[in-house]
Parts: sequence; structure tokens; C-alpha cells
Amino acid sequence: MANSKEIGGFFELELNNGFEYHGAAIALNTGRNAFEYILEANNYTHIYLPYFTCDAMIEPLKKLKISYEFYSINNNLLPDFNFKKVQNNQAFIYNNYFGLLGNNIGAIRSKCKNIIVDNSQAFFDRTLLDIDTFYSPRKFFGVSDGAYLYSKRKISQFLKTDISYNNMKHLLGRVDMGAQKFYKDYQRNEEKLKDQPIKRMSSLTQNILKNIAYENVKKKRRRNYKFLGKYFNDINLLQFNLDNDTVPLVYPLLLKDGGSLKKALIQNNIYIPTYWPNVLEWTHENSFEKFLVENLVCLPIDQRYDEADMKIIIDLINNE
Ligand SMILES: Cc1ncc(COP(=O)(O)O)c(C=O)c1O
Repeated sequence: MANSKEIGGFFELELNNGFEYHGAAIALNTGRNAFEYILEANNYTHIYLPYFTCDAMIEPLKKLKISYEFYSINNNLLPDFNFKKVQNNQAFIYNNYFGLLGNNIGAIRSKCKNIIVDNSQAFFDRTLLDIDTFYSPRKFFGVSDGAYLYSKRKISQFLKTDISYNNMKHLLGRVDMGAQKFYKDYQRNEEKLKDQPIKRMSSLTQNILKNIAYENVKKKRRRNYKFLGKYFNDINLLQFNLDNDTVPLVYPLLLKDGGSLKKALIQNNIYIPTYWPNVLEWTHENSFEKFLVENLVCLPIDQRYDEADMKIIIDLINNE
């Protein structure tokens, strides 16, 4: 009699066995590897992608030796692009910035059939089922890696399953001792995600993603976003509509002199990310993209925070 299932003994990290938000998707190791999966499955030979994106997107293009071209975006963060350029064996990447630009995907699909939606910043955006779309959950939740992918075509190669337990130090450490002591570990984990093969999502990441109160997360993010909006929509150079099912990553506040505000907030322990430093190397001096990198103040609105926290941010900005 043989049995391979381990029963009894010491306990593992205790997690509830709930549901993944994207349970129907293919669960992989990183967003860039989900993009690589799409490239391989479709044999694309040329890709159009925005200047304003993360440099991780270039990794699979280089690996597969696929040529690429950048396009610009306009003041509404929408593509300034002639879709007729996209040929059969080529694809266009649409970036759903901050989760706030999902509404335009349908309109773009009607102009261009080979679109890939990068929902790395839009975890909750519902997919148009016939469009290849990927997500990077660690931008929204405390996981070290992982990706979800909706892809019309599948690849046949065997995929190993990722292992994440050694990548959790920054997540665990922040709970015990705060962010500052573990920022280097966070960066180390980001480094480790580079140049990985396509793998299946680790059991640890997947199990953590089964533990999230997604409806609660949605409500909190929307509430915090709206609360900041009441104070900042009038001065914000970017204007977005928050539809009923839109769940933002951050509140993106664009100001002429946003760069100095960003510095002041960071000095006051309000951590503002820069999306994306690599863009400065790709674009010219007077580009809108460069202005965005330098002056966009992405205010945190995530599920860890409530209106009292938003008030702290508002007061700091008003006192600047
Ligand atoms: C817009 C965007 N696309 C793709 C990626 C790649 O995702 P991952 O880091 O999970 O590979 C990122 C971030 O890294 C991103 O910000």
C-alpha cells in the first residue's frame, strides 16, 4: 500500500481556502512572463508598446528576439497611434494605467484585432473575454510574485511551478517591524524576478491570493480614491471617470511641480512610487512621458488605509 499525501505533523502557515479573483485564468510567475507566454503562443514578430511603461516589458522581447517600437500617449494617457500600422503578425500593447483606463479597450479593439491588454495596474478590471490580458497581483496585494493570464492560445511546453517561500522576507518583515528596515529586501526580491523562465504560480502565492477579501478591497480603494478626488480633482492635470466597476491602483495627481511635492511626501513617510524611471532613458527632453515620470504624484489609496490616513496625506499636501 502506497500513499504520497502527507498527513499530520507540524503545521504550515495557516491560510483560509477561499477563492482566487481570477480563478479562470492561467496562473503564472510574473507579468512579464505572462507577456512572454502571449508572444510565444501567437508567434508575433513585432510589438508596439508605450514609452510610458515598465522596463520589465522589454525582457521577453529581448529574450525572444522580437523587434519593438514605442508609441506616445496623449494628455488622457490614451495611445496617440495609427492602428492601421498593426499587421497580422504584430501586436499592440494597451496599458490600463492605474486601473483607470479600462473603458477604452472596447474602442481600441474595434480598430485593431491584435491587442494585448497590460492590466498589471488594473487587477480588478474585467477582461473582454476575447482579448489576451495579463495581471501582476503583487502591485495590489502582499505577495512576492505571481501573474494571471487570459490567453486565447495555449503553449504546449511543460511549465515548472515556482517556489516563493524564500522571497517573503520583506512581506513578513514589514508586518513585524515596518517598511524601512525591509526596503532592501523588497528590492532584492524585485531583482530575483528578472530573467526567470515562464513558470506556474507558486502554491504559496496562490494560497495567499485565495485569502483576500476582494470585495472589501474594492470598496476601500474606491472610497479612498473618491475621498482624495474631492480635494484634488480641481487641481489635477489628469481627469478620470471612476465607473462603478473601476478599482484604481493609486490616485494619480499630476501637477506642474509635482516632483517637489513627491519629495516632500516621501520625507514625511508617505511613500510615492515613480512610474517608471526607465522612461527617462527612452524619451526625449520635452516629451509628455518625461513630464509624467517627473511630476506624477501617485498617492496610496490601497486597502490598508482609511479616510483618516487620506486626511494625513491631504493635510501634508495643503501645508506644502
Ligand atoms: C505596466 C507594467 N507591465 C508589466 C509589468 C511586469 O510585471 P512583473 O513585474 O510581474 O513581471 C509591470 C511591473 O513590473 C508593470 O508596471
